Amino acid sequence: MTAADTYRTFATREACGVSPAYERLALAVSGDAELLALIERLPPPKRQPNLLFGVVRLLGGPVEDPAAFHAYVVANWPAIEVEIQRRATQTNEAGRCAVLLPLLAALPQPLALLEVGASAGLCLYPDRYAYRYDRQLLGGAGRPLLDCTLTGALPPSRLPTVVWRAGLDLNPLDVTDPDDLAWLDALIWPEHAHRRARLRAAANLVAADPPLLVRGDLVDDLPAVAALAPPEATLVVFHTTVLYLVPEPRRRAFVEVVRGLPGNWIAAESPRALSYDGLPEPPGAGFNNVLALDGKPLAWAQAHGQAAAWFG
Ligand SMILES: C[S@@+](CC[C@H](N)C(=O)[O-])C[C@H]1O[C@@H](n2cnc3c(N)ncnc32)[C@H](O)[C@@H]1O
Repeated sequence: MTAADTYRTFATREACGVSPAYERLALAVSGDAELLALIERLPPPKRQPNLLFGVVRLLGGPVEDPAAFHAYVVANWPAIEVEIQRRATQTNEAGRCAVLLPLLAALPQPLALLEVGASAGLCLYPDRYAYRYDRQLLGGAGRPLLDCTLTGALPPSRLPTVVWRAGLDLNPLDVTDPDDLAWLDALIWPEHAHRRARLRAAANLVAADPPLLVRGDLVDDLPAVAALAPPEATLVVFHTTVLYLVPEPRRRAFVEVVRGLPGNWIAAESPRALSYDGLPEPPGAGFNNVLALDGKPLAWAQAHGQAAAWFG
């Protein structure tokens, strides 16, 4: 895929209907020969729109107006390139817990949660958020509130009981480090003020009771971290929006490793990263992830956990 294709696809498949600013910007970049020439000097994994846009936001550059963005990127390319090389897209979205919750709540309790590709670990606290599934509320007042529209499934009636939580990541982020928090903030799309507020609230919650976050690879290091889980709890290995960053042979190796572990496995991944036979059409724009339990696909989920539509 050329850089132009990557930016066009991002505009039409990911930003469309979710972020007008990023849709407009990605479309403009896809037709901007000067910016594409700069982007194509980067190694392919570093050409993602989210990475370039996030770095420009981190550095205080404009992302709302494509002409201003062009001028800023051309003028500041050396500084932008340094940040692109040292960072990766590690968006950590607590809202994704809302689509995991129906599955987590239905498993035998208590749970030992092991998140693969955990970033800063915000999704390791599904028991500490409050949820609003249309009009049904779950969880107490004062908690970060996650809104989600469920179709084809009833909202869960209880929160899970979590007795152990651990995350595994190539580069775990620390919510108490101002630079890490600034990067997580820069990765949130421009119009999404509610997600920015949620990041702060979730970061406070994590900082008050940090999880075990292990630096390591999802294939090589998963069995050792899983072995730390208390055997009396149901081990749940889960991951959301991670495998698109992992090369195909390593994805297959990961699936083999995870299938060999005890407990349950929940995946919320793009079908381009983790494919299944016979998927129905997604119900609308923005339904990028397939939610699956133990390898069985069950629902389409929107990328930031805003909605999930159960199959059938
Ligand atoms: C887009 S973030 C998603 C974070 C979190 N799962 C969420 O949904 O909010 C993907 C994370 O996967 C991690 N990652 C990518 N490849 C990995 C690997 N081979 N092993 C462990 N973590 C990896 C990245 O460092 C990053 O933090």
